Amino acid sequence: MTLFRLVYASRAADALTPSDHDQILVSSRRNNGKAGVTGLLAFSAREFLQCLEGSREAVSTTYGRILADPRHQDVQLIDCRAADVRWFGEWGMHGLPPSKLTRQRVLRYSERELFTPTRMSSGNVLALLADLAQELDAEQKATAPLEPAVTSSIRPSSEAPREGLLAKIGLKREN
Ligand SMILES: Cc1cc2nc3c(=O)[nH]c(=O)nc-3n(C[C@H](O)[C@H](O)[C@H](O)COP(=O)(O)O)c2cc1C
Repeated sequence: MTLFRLVYASRAADALTPSDHDQILVSSRRNNGKAGVTGLLAFSAREFLQCLEGSREAVSTTYGRILADPRHQDVQLIDCRAADVRWFGEWGMHGLPPSKLTRQRVLRYSERELFTPTRMSSGNVLALLADLAQELDAEQKATAPLEPAVTSSIRPSSEAPREGLLAKIGLKREN
């Protein structure tokens, strides 16, 4: 199976409510768990940024459904490639708390302080995601898991530690 990672950004529909957002996470976790898809969904300032990882088939099917969802619009595909390891292997879909998108972190990867992934370079979006993955991984190791793992078989046993992840995946910041 080819492990695949797809990243896109979009803008929330005007009518999106917090309850819609919760519903998206509920159905994402249910469906992704069955399909072996993991990832992260960030939402701030009405902008979505999502990373989907899994088999190419499962990621494509999931993305196809997401594209047709009226709860968001202006979907921009940011990156889509084979991946060596999962970055978010512990989560069927991790709903990133907006508090993780600090001004300092957003400024590190973009020229503006407002989280606007549609205006960031693909490389910087990937660098931001790798940064978040590293922090979530460290938190996961330090505390009891907040969300159950999708399935322990999802994370490849050969997965390398996240130390130096940015260097390992050959990403550098493009400020
Ligand atoms: C920003 C956004 C992200 C979403 N992410 C996922 C996802 O990761 N997995 C998924 O199955 N559905 C996701 N959805 C929901 C799908 O568009 C669709 O509503 C859902 O898959 C339908 O499945 P259900 O009938 O089981 O609810 C997302 C929707 C939005 C607006």
